[in-house]
Amino acid sequence: MSERPILTTDVGAPIVDNQNTQSAGERGPLLIQDQHLLEKLARFNRERIPERIVHARGSGAYGVFEVTDDVTRYTKAKFLSEVGKRTEVFVRFSTVAGNLGAPDAVRDPRGFAVKFYTEDGNYDLVGNNTPIFFIQDPLKFPDFIHSQKRDPYTGMQEPDNIWDFFSLSPEATHMFTWLFGDRGIPASYRHMNGYGSHTFQWMNADGEAFWIKYHFKTDQGIRFLTNEEAAVVAGRDPDSHQRDLHTAIDRGDYPSWTLYVQIMPWEDAQRYRFNPFDLTKVWPHSDYPLIRVGRMTLNRNPDNVFADVEQSAFNPNNFVPGIGPSPDKMLQGRLFAYGDAHRYRLGVNYTQLPVNAPRAVAHGVNHYHRDGFMRFDGNHGRKKNYEPNSFDGPVETGEPFWKPFEVNGLTGTYETPRHPEDNDFVQAGLMWRKVLDEAARTRLVNNIAESLSKVSREDIIERSISHFRNADSEYGDRVEKAVKELRAHGGATESAAVTR
Ligand code: NDP
Ligand code: HEM
Repeated sequence: MSERPILTTDVGAPIVDNQNTQSAGERGPLLIQDQHLLEKLARFNRERIPERIVHARGSGAYGVFEVTDDVTRYTKAKFLSEVGKRTEVFVRFSTVAGNLGAPDAVRDPRGFAVKFYTEDGNYDLVGNNTPIFFIQDPLKFPDFIHSQKRDPYTGMQEPDNIWDFFSLSPEATHMFTWLFGDRGIPASYRHMNGYGSHTFQWMNADGEAFWIKYHFKTDQGIRFLTNEEAAVVAGRDPDSHQRDLHTAIDRGDYPSWTLYVQIMPWEDAQRYRFNPFDLTKVWPHSDYPLIRVGRMTLNRNPDNVFADVEQSAFNPNNFVPGIGPSPDKMLQGRLFAYGDAHRYRLGVNYTQLPVNAPRAVAHGVNHYHRDGFMRFDGNHGRKKNYEPNSFDGPVETGEPFWKPFEVNGLTGTYETPRHPEDNDFVQAGLMWRKVLDEAARTRLVNNIAESLSKVSREDIIERSISHFRNADSEYGDRVEKAVKELRAHGGATESAAVTR
C-alpha cells in the first residue's frame, strides 16, 4: 500500500479506477451506474462562475497594513488607532475592460482593491490606479462600460465606440488624458500607485468629521510601458502582471505601498474652488498636502487562485466606525452596485467564503440574516432569527460611524454642481502644462492619435479633438496634426523614437 492519500468521491467513498470508465463489456457503451464518471463530467461543466462584469482579469495577494503615523485626531477607526498597529489585508489588482484571460499589458485603468480585516469588521477600499474617473453620474456607468467592451456586432473592442462615448462626454477629458499618458500601461501591478479616487469621510472620537482622499504610493517606483513595449509584452506573456506579482512574492521580494491621505476640513467643501465630490477632479496637493498614514506590504500568495482571488468580493459600502461615504454621486451609485454583483456572481452567502469572511472581529459576527443557497456554516444554530427579542440576541450600538451631511433642495435630476473654477477641461489642461514634460506630451499625443485615427467617422474625431483643445490649445492642435498624419499616410506619429 502506498503512502499517498486515497482518491475518493466528494462524499468520501474510495475511487477504484480513475483511468478507465465502466462499460458494458470491453467494447460496449458506457454505464450510467458509473457515478465517478458522471460526477467528474458534471463537476467540470460547472467550474466557471460568472466573471466580474468589469475588472474580470485580476491578481491577488495577502499582506499587512501597518500604521506609521498618528491620525487619531481625524478618525476613530480602530485599525488606525496607534502607531505600529498591524492589520491583515487582501488586495486584488485588475484590468477593467478585458475578459478573464485577457492580456495584462494593455492600456486600461487598473483596479486597486484592498480589504482590511479589522476588529470592527471588514473595511473595503475599492480604488483604482487613477485618482479620477471618466464620468460623474452612476447612471452613465453601464453605457460607458458598453463603449469600452466588445461591440455587439463585431465582437471586438471598437475605437468608434470608445471615442464616440468620449466625444459626447466632455467630463472624461481629464481621465482620457491620464489614461493615454504614461501611467495608462503600468509595467506591473507593483509599479503603480493606488487611489481611493472618491472623497470619503473620516470622523474622530469627538464626532468631528473631515473629508479625505486616499493615495497609496508605490515604494517600488512608478514604471510604465509604451504602446510598443506593451504590444511585445502582451504577445510574449499575456500573464505579465500576474507573473510579476506572484513571482516577486514567492521569492520574498515583498511589494509595499505607503498610504497617504489628503484631508479637507468639513466646512471647506461648500466653498472650495473645485467641487470636492466630483470624481473627475483631484484636489491639488498645494491645497491639501499628503499626510502619511502607514505602509501596506504584500507577503503571501493565496494557495488557490479561484478560492481567494476569483471569489473575493469587495464592496465600497463596507465601512467601519470612523469612516464613511461622501455625497459623490458615483460613490453613492457604487454603494449599491457591488453587493448586488456579489449576490449574483457568488450567491447570497458570499460573505461566508473564507476570503470574504471577517476574521478579526472582536465583538463576534452576530446578525439575523439566515438561510439562502449554500449556507455552509451552522446558520446561527438555535439562536432567534428576529429582533427585537427577549432571548439576549444581538442589539445595535447606536454609535454612528460618521457624521451626517446636510442636504437641501427639491428631489430631481441634477447635473453635478460646479464650483467657481470647475469645468470639464481645467485639470486636464493643468496636467498637460504642469505635470508632463515634453517627452511625455509627445507620447500622450501619439498614444491618443494611434487610437483615435482608427475611428471611422470624422464628426467623432472632431468632437474628441475639440475636448483636448479646450484643455489646452497646443494639446488639441498636436493631437489633430498627429491624427491627420496617421490617417493620410497610415505611418508614424509625431515622433517614432519614443524616449523616457
Ligand atoms: P502636483 O504637481 O502637486 O502633483 C502632480 C501629480 O501628478 C503627482 O501626484 C504625480 O504623481 C502625478 N503624475 C506625474 N506624472 C503623471 C502622469 N504621467 N500621469 C498621471 N499622473 C502623473 O500637482 P497638482 O496636485 O496641482 O495636480 C496637477 C495635476 O496633476 C492635476 O490636474 C492632475 O491632472 C494631476 N494629478 C494630481 C493628483 C493629485 O492628487 N493632486 C494625482 C495624480 C495626478 P506622483 O504621485 O507619482 O508624484
Ligand atoms: C468592480 C460597478 C466605478 C473600482 C466592479 C464590479 C461592478 C462595478 C458591478 C464587479 C464587482 C464584482 O463582481 O465583484 C461599478 C459602478 C461604478 C464603478 C456601477 C460607477 C458608478 C468604479 C470606480 C472605481 C472602481 C470609480 C475606482 C475608484 C472597481 C474595482 C473593481 C470593480 C477595483 C474590482 C474589485 C475586485 O478586484 O474584485 N465595479 N464600478 N469602480 N470596480 Fe467598479
